[in-house]
Amino acid sequence: MAVTGLILIAFLLMHMFGNLKMFIGADSFNHYAEWLKGQTADGGILYPILPAGWFIWIFRVVLLAAVVLHIYSAVTLWSRALAANPTTYEAKRKLAQTYSARTMRWGGIILAGVLIFHLLQFTVHATLIAGAFEDNPYKMVLGEFSIWWMVLVYAIWMVAVCMHIRHGFWSAFATLGANTSAKARAILNGCAWAVALILYIGFMIMPVSVLFGWIGA
Ligand code: HEM
Repeated sequence: MAVTGLILIAFLLMHMFGNLKMFIGADSFNHYAEWLKGQTADGGILYPILPAGWFIWIFRVVLLAAVVLHIYSAVTLWSRALAANPTTYEAKRKLAQTYSARTMRWGGIILAGVLIFHLLQFTVHATLIAGAFEDNPYKMVLGEFSIWWMVLVYAIWMVAVCMHIRHGFWSAFATLGANTSAKARAILNGCAWAVALILYIGFMIMPVSVLFGWIGA
């Protein structure tokens, strides 16, 4: 869980920086999207180490493997927890846990459900929503985030994502041995909050700016 979770957090940081290229302009954002897919004149990322267009598929396979292993570990842990404690108590014992910690399982399921919508919307380009779907990533993003409720859906989704990450980051490092003292715990907690807040602000600033016409006006 810890290793695959940290791989996914690293992906999100990269994804966030990529999205921020929307602020630089259409050429920058489109070039980045095409470069990742090996569609630029220079053969794209890692060319000629890899043939043009291979990187994105290797990347997708690694990402998918990380997601599958993360879910597999979660299900294994969940069933072990159930097996270890099969009785249903009359009164449920309230554990000293944060809200994020208590919502990891259902939060994770909701997060994954919206992720499927996200991939349909942007990667599969499914015309589910009335938006400007043109074969230009910059225009596509402008079209989607000109819809107010779409920005709202993302703002809510990102709360779930960042809560999951705040607790997940903490647990991952605790699993890897960082929870050694009260001071280490405080530092870890601060880092977990920082990563979650950076991701929330870094991801949401772009859709909000599109909605208010600060980008692409
Ligand atoms: C406000 C938040 C987000 C925005 C605005 C956003 C935007 C985008 C856009 C525009 C693309 C398509 C890029 C292209 O086709 O050129 C994309 C792809 C993707 N996004 Fe997001 N994203 C957000 C959050 C997330 C989150 C939280 C996750 C994961 C939990 C995620 C996972 C992905 C994945 C896996 C892809 C597909 C990459 C590929 O095509 O291989 N995104 N996103």
